[in-house]
Amino acid sequence: MKIAVLPGDGIGTEIVAEAVKVLDALDLNLEMESALVGGAAFDAHGHPLPESTLKLAKEADAILFGAVGDWKYDKLDRPLRPEQAILGLRKSLGLFANFRPAICYEQLVGASSLKPELVAGLDILIIRELTGDIYFGQPRGKRTAVDGHFPGAEEAFDTMRYSKPEIERIARVAFDAARKRNKKVTSVDKANVLETFQFWKDVVTEVHKDYPDVELQHMYVDNAAMQLVKAPKSFDVIVTGNMFGDILSDEASMLTGSIGMLPSASLNDRKQGLYEPSHGSAPDIAGKGIANPLATILSAAMMLRFSLGQEAAADRIEDAVKKVLAQGLRTPDIYSEGTTKVSTREMGDAVVKALG
Ligand code: NAD
Ligand code: IPM
Ligand code: MN
Repeated sequence: MKIAVLPGDGIGTEIVAEAVKVLDALDLNLEMESALVGGAAFDAHGHPLPESTLKLAKEADAILFGAVGDWKYDKLDRPLRPEQAILGLRKSLGLFANFRPAICYEQLVGASSLKPELVAGLDILIIRELTGDIYFGQPRGKRTAVDGHFPGAEEAFDTMRYSKPEIERIARVAFDAARKRNKKVTSVDKANVLETFQFWKDVVTEVHKDYPDVELQHMYVDNAAMQLVKAPKSFDVIVTGNMFGDILSDEASMLTGSIGMLPSASLNDRKQGLYEPSHGSAPDIAGKGIANPLATILSAAMMLRFSLGQEAAADRIEDAVKKVLAQGLRTPDIYSEGTTKVSTREMGDAVVKALG
């Protein structure tokens, strides 16, 4: 089993090192090869996703990814910015289905910014379409306006679009996932305003005919953002487009205590996957040794389960994470009074120890 390890920038390198340590400790004979990606790859090779890195990723059974980006690259032409690396990997590998499970572990109920009773026992799954929508729609760019409020003025534009097969396949992923859970799907859209999302709603409704055992609810994205903090446990599976899913998953991360707790899996139709925390490179805390590595470690568990068929090893990691939380170990982002503050490395070491 070959794993491409792409740490990236900022805290990416710190958190991936801990996840690799945990994988090594499992003694699974994994073949791990690292490569530069994002700003680090731009600095070394002049491109955020060098041909060699893409090749390594394509040939691997799975990819363990950290994060990319730093403010210092924000002035570069867009194709050279670090973020293009993750977008390019998603597109090149066809990773259209992004799973972002928001689970509030018992020990972290107090770490959430919400009242304990709202988040205790929370277990929802956000399924975000990852290769379409306004993220990839063409045309896009800058031009002189010929109409609108200010003809003749400079303007910028992007294109929001979804084709029927793109919506159908992500809807099936969501209904299939719900079948293994509490059999409820909430499809989040903006059908009251946008053509793209009226179409989304219609297609999801059509696909639902094949899943009579699963309940389907439609919700506008603004209401969904509100319901997520009002009654998060009323959701089971949320399925939505690329941009709404990006925003709602960061919101949902706070229900679990911290964005440092939210893992993710991005899969294609061959179940090849890229595994990464849902958060970014956190330049504000990079290099300080205080980033929470658990989202990445939990992403490694998802990798073992989804792409490598190592269910038992995945369980071992998840149990170990629960154990260290029960021991009261906390990186600063999930710290509360009466618990013990630890560094990124100490947290990784503790998970390794808790594997038994
Ligand atoms: P971010 O997720 O990096 O950080 C947001 C806030 O959360 C920061 O205060 C940060 O310190 C905190 N945080 C994030 N992860 C944490 C962790 N593991 N432990 C403790 N605290 C954590 O988002 P941002 O600041 O908006 O973006 C920073 C850079 O990351 C940008 O360049 C952005 O484009 C990029 N980004 C990359 C990815 C990715 O590689 N998939 C995802 C999101 C953002
Ligand atoms: C994420 C990130 C990315 C996204 C950026 C870095 C391109 O925010 O993985 O959630 O918007 O998809
Ligand atoms: Mn995001």
